[in-house]
Amino acid sequence: MCGIVGYIGKRNALPVIIDGLKRLEYRGYDSAGFTILSDKGEYITFKKAGRVTDLEESIDFEKYIGNVGIGHTRWATHGEPTDANAHPHFCMEEKIILVHNGIIENYKAIKSKLESEGYKFKTDTDTEILANLINYNYKKTNDFVKAVQLSLGGVDGTYGIACLCTDEKDKIIAARKGSPLLLGVGDEEFIIASDAAAVLSYTRNVIYLNDGEMAIVTKNSHTLKTIEDVEIIRDIQVLDMVLEQIEKGGYKHFMLKEICEQPESIQNTFRGRINFETGVAKLGGLEKVLPQMLNAKRYIITACGTAWHAGLIGEYMIEQYCRIPVEVEYASEFRYRRPIIYKDDVVIGISQSGETADTLEALREAKKYGATTIGIVNVIGSTIAREVDAGTYIHAGPEIGVASTKAFTSQLMSLALITMMIAREKNTLFSKTLREMAQELKQIPEKIKRMIDRKEDYKSVAEKFRKSKNFYYLGRGVNFPVALEGALKLKEISYIHAEGYPAAEMKHGPIALIDKKMPVVFIAPKDRTYDKIISNIAEVKSRKGIIIALANEDDDNIKNYADYILRVPKTLGIFAPILNIIPLQFLSYYIAAMNNRDVDRPRNLAKSVTVE
Ligand code: G6P
Repeated sequence: MCGIVGYIGKRNALPVIIDGLKRLEYRGYDSAGFTILSDKGEYITFKKAGRVTDLEESIDFEKYIGNVGIGHTRWATHGEPTDANAHPHFCMEEKIILVHNGIIENYKAIKSKLESEGYKFKTDTDTEILANLINYNYKKTNDFVKAVQLSLGGVDGTYGIACLCTDEKDKIIAARKGSPLLLGVGDEEFIIASDAAAVLSYTRNVIYLNDGEMAIVTKNSHTLKTIEDVEIIRDIQVLDMVLEQIEKGGYKHFMLKEICEQPESIQNTFRGRINFETGVAKLGGLEKVLPQMLNAKRYIITACGTAWHAGLIGEYMIEQYCRIPVEVEYASEFRYRRPIIYKDDVVIGISQSGETADTLEALREAKKYGATTIGIVNVIGSTIAREVDAGTYIHAGPEIGVASTKAFTSQLMSLALITMMIAREKNTLFSKTLREMAQELKQIPEKIKRMIDRKEDYKSVAEKFRKSKNFYYLGRGVNFPVALEGALKLKEISYIHAEGYPAAEMKHGPIALIDKKMPVVFIAPKDRTYDKIISNIAEVKSRKGIIIALANEDDDNIKNYADYILRVPKTLGIFAPILNIIPLQFLSYYIAAMNNRDVDRPRNLAKSVTVE
């Protein structure tokens, strides 16, 4: 993880770097730092444990005037989040200065080799070792580019780097393998960054680097090469994104903004992809793999975190309506257990960022076995989007809050569209049913709006339980993964222990924990499991648990059982999780905000996990 920024051009570098780091903080916020080449030709560095704002508040901008610089915001992997371990890192001779996102896996071997050459290290980081390795190769070659190439050629693991050399002052070298990196190309200026968010204030023209590639950037030129020194010609891409999309727009937190954006983000997911009259769903990006999707004997869905929960819901949808067996795998588990993958399998990776290391590697593994790989991705041009055989963008727009909200519902909408597309082709659903689904799909944004208008009701429930220490979330069928996602939302931003469970499994152990202090959120819409879930509610109630029921607007019966009710509009089963998660997103948001948690940047987390 971590975010990196580099600037070279006509402006003062530091404000661009600080602004960029703030926009990349979702990638990690344990420490931050920068190095500027000052107008006097000196390299000045400042780095500090804590957030980018802590760094910003501690510096006198007047002291750091210069047009070249690199910066970093860290999510600690090797070494604690201390001032010393913050980036940039230097080689022993302070000739090479480096910011790095990723993990150098063979750092120990490199360190021993360098130690035997007399190198000494001041920090616990793998990055410092890489800086010294570049220095070692620089001494041998006297050529900065070659030194970086030789060093990266000997490195196992992942990196996105921006690097300075005090002998070649007006130059930044950037390179990537496994960690995202792009080059913003402005008017007489270049910005290197982990993500487009950091360049958007200055330019919409970008060049994405691929694995094994580097950019050599000076004030007025850029050259792209592979690590093996083959020159690359690549067109500039124009970003289809505006700055307002990544700003808070009057909301207190990005998370709240993103929850409230869901009527539009969902609409953007299905816009132009469904004919409401005929019920025909069409996903252009998947057309070329449609034969494989229709002939596959099974689908494997792989993902992490919230995207994995979306995958579990996708399993219910595809199995129920397309009658294709689906397996859902944590990407981190899948790739390490010699999975059995057949050539005619379809492997679907779901990822908001399109950069999650485990998901990416799981898809690469599947590709090795000859399976067809598909991405359901939000970030346009991300590594997963580029590497899969085919894919569909969810078009949720930039998601900044670390807790995923609008990306989740758009992932579900994409899965519903895929389900409708395949069910039609395989004739597993009647045309009439598909038409009804399409008509209902059209209502979803409006129904989400109704819930957003009701947010004060959800807030009042949050008020009652803000001090609770534990929560259960229970659901059945397709609402079991919704329970998992509801519990995850609460855990990650409010640090309250919460567990999701299939409601009927409750009595096989967890019910032992029920007492009068335990709030239990039941997801209880009127579907075919309703009567069963009412029985599960009764079981908890008779043990004095507190019942918070998520129930349909017209369900009066629920009042007989529930202590608190979160109302949701009724919809068809295929779309129910999209609506049912929304009150749970609000519940966790308000509980965290009332407890003064750092909602958008919860402790220990990062939005994009590009380490394994
Ligand atoms: C991190 C984030 C989660 C996210 C997961 C997968 O853990 O904090 O919100 O669900 O990564 O991320 P992806 O970008 O692949 O969807």
